[in-house]
Amino acid sequence: MSSTVTDTRGLAGQTIGETQICSVNQTQLIYRGYEIADLAANASFEEVSYLLLVGHKPSAGELAEFKKTLVGMRSIPQSVTDAITHIAQESPGTHPMGVVRTAISLLGHLDAECEDNSAEAELRKSMRLLASIPTCIGVHQRALEGKSPIDPDPTLDHAANLLWCMTGEKPGEIAAKVMDVSLILYAEHDFNASTFTCRVIASTNSDLHSAVCGGVGALKGNLHGGANEAAMEMLADIMKDTEDGSMTVDAWMQRAFAEKRKLMGFGHRVYKNGDHRAGILRQWGLKYAAEENASARKWFDLGDAVQGIMLDQKNIHPNVDFPCGMTYFAMGIPVPQYTPIFVASRITGWCAHIMEQHANNRIIRPLAEYSGPPLQQWNG
Ligand code: CMC
Repeated sequence: MSSTVTDTRGLAGQTIGETQICSVNQTQLIYRGYEIADLAANASFEEVSYLLLVGHKPSAGELAEFKKTLVGMRSIPQSVTDAITHIAQESPGTHPMGVVRTAISLLGHLDAECEDNSAEAELRKSMRLLASIPTCIGVHQRALEGKSPIDPDPTLDHAANLLWCMTGEKPGEIAAKVMDVSLILYAEHDFNASTFTCRVIASTNSDLHSAVCGGVGALKGNLHGGANEAAMEMLADIMKDTEDGSMTVDAWMQRAFAEKRKLMGFGHRVYKNGDHRAGILRQWGLKYAAEENASARKWFDLGDAVQGIMLDQKNIHPNVDFPCGMTYFAMGIPVPQYTPIFVASRITGWCAHIMEQHANNRIIRPLAEYSGPPLQQWNG
């Protein structure tokens, strides 16, 4: 960076627009006027989805109609099922986020309203994606396991149906509840990297599916949504070293600090005193482990040790991806599907922002300060 260029890397600390959807600050996380702990304790993911997409808390009648419509939109075209299955069989190493991105792109081709950016069509497209992404995740996971796809279950709510599509087993009450809460916590977070990507794409008058594909690409990275997988992989690494006696947790951490490693699931661009979502999810993860999987408790204990050292020595708090890794692991969810599940939730926030951008659009096109070579002659 030249000395004349201001340090604007990462747009840190800059407010670059306005939104009515969400407020992220040190003391609160608010979705359209409702605080996250209130929503996690008292709302369902479908209610939160309605709040984000439509703009207000649903009445009982509005919620019933919304849920019924979503259930009717869960199936995906056979050609999309075939494409996902083909990728799983021919290229099993493909990261599931790449599969979700491809599936959403295919769903766009097959959506008769793909090029219609009217508010009404965008709400319908948002709902179709919200309803069908769990089906795509399920088809892929089952194909990886050599199993046939199963139909979504119309009797199950959104979170329970997501687990059903992946496993073919009706989840218990606590599993469905923990998944529902995690989806609420992941649903929206103002101008995070993936949502900002969606808004940039939408601002060119591009379509909703294209914008969402961009959002998936941005979420995949381990500095953003991919951190929930990376956090669990890091914990597994520490567990291995501590269980085989080659290293204590403290020694592992000191080595990571000496190597200036980024510890996954820690830190946040906005929250400097802790992520409001992390404590909520940790509690639900612990509850799940206590009721359903006592052997998973050791991961939370290890997480507490890592968290204590991070706080004590670096003053850096865990973000939501840290307890998410442990919680989904306790629930038996395959690690590479953690970030696609984040997509199954954040699709609501992305679509709300795409609609908000289109409703009051101006192309997003900032400036860059040139720091390259001085002017010279090609033939000089
Ligand atoms: N491990 C070690 N050091 C860290 C970490 C971490 N996880 N996070 C921040 N730091 C250090 C950072 O290196 C910097 O040190 P220095 O001043 O010596 O260069 C200092 O803390 C301040 O960093 P920052 O300015 O707060 O970081 P940032 O805003 O540029 O980046 C972040 C934010 C989330 C990308 C970063 O904290 C990180 O890489 N965390 C690990 C990945 C992660 O968990 N991502 C999930 C983010 S939240 C939920 C989501 O989007 O999914």
